[in-house]
Amino acid sequence: MIISFLNQKGGTGKSTLARAVAVEFARNGWGVHVADMDTLQKTAFNWAGRREQAEVTPQIEVALYREPKAALKASETSDLLIVDGKAFADTHVLEFAKVSDLIVLPVGISADDLEPTLSLASELINKGVSRSLIFFVVCKVTKNGEREAFNTCKSISNWSFEVAEGWIPMQTAYSQAMDTGRALTETKYKELNATTDKIIKQIADKAIRTQQAIKEGA
Ligand SMILES: Nc1ncnc2c1ncn2[C@@H]1O[C@H](COP(=O)(O)OP(=O)(O)OP(=O)(O)O)[C@@H](O)[C@H]1O
Ligand SMILES: [Mg+2]
Repeated sequence: MIISFLNQKGGTGKSTLARAVAVEFARNGWGVHVADMDTLQKTAFNWAGRREQAEVTPQIEVALYREPKAALKASETSDLLIVDGKAFADTHVLEFAKVSDLIVLPVGISADDLEPTLSLASELINKGVSRSLIFFVVCKVTKNGEREAFNTCKSISNWSFEVAEGWIPMQTAYSQAMDTGRALTETKYKELNATTDKIIKQIADKAIRTQQAIKEGA
């Protein structure tokens, strides 16, 4: 299975969601490999190093790749390849989108984030990607931003795209968790973990459903 976290826009939450979904599947016994496509920032790769140092389990295998082809090769030897996409990488986006079982588009609540992400999703469809493989997730919702988040979800639905129910709030505890090699669902606070767990499980369930549909259609 291949799940790609993509967006040409930077800083929307690709690496954040990718890490949490990797942990969710690994916890359930899947052999997970994360392809970190950003060889400069190395966000997921460095996080895995911190995770190893802090002895957090399950261990998550992350490698850096410059080219999609090399990353995709890793899907042959793992149950799940998670692609942590690189910002400003137009060609990568389509290459991964074409072979993914699920394309996750993290998006913020501002029009600055939403408009280019909706354009990207439409462009993918124009280039032959199935609408059913695209899943929006609203991320980084600040305090008092709930109304905006709700409206963002509504706009996405109005464009006939599927969007996760709920959103990922912006919380220092989440960034602190990631600083110590943990994921959104592994903070010190049960309630915060439960909030993100609901979203991460929706991504996992959706990926399993789309993979099944692809298999049945093949
Ligand atoms: N829910 C959250 N709460 C607090 N901080 C967050 C949250 N989500 C993301 N961040 C922080 O916001 C920044 C951007 O998030 P992230 O790295 O996941 O985005 P990205 O789409 O991978 O960015 P890039 O395009 O640069 O690869 C990071 O510093 C991350 O730690
Ligand atoms: Mg990133």
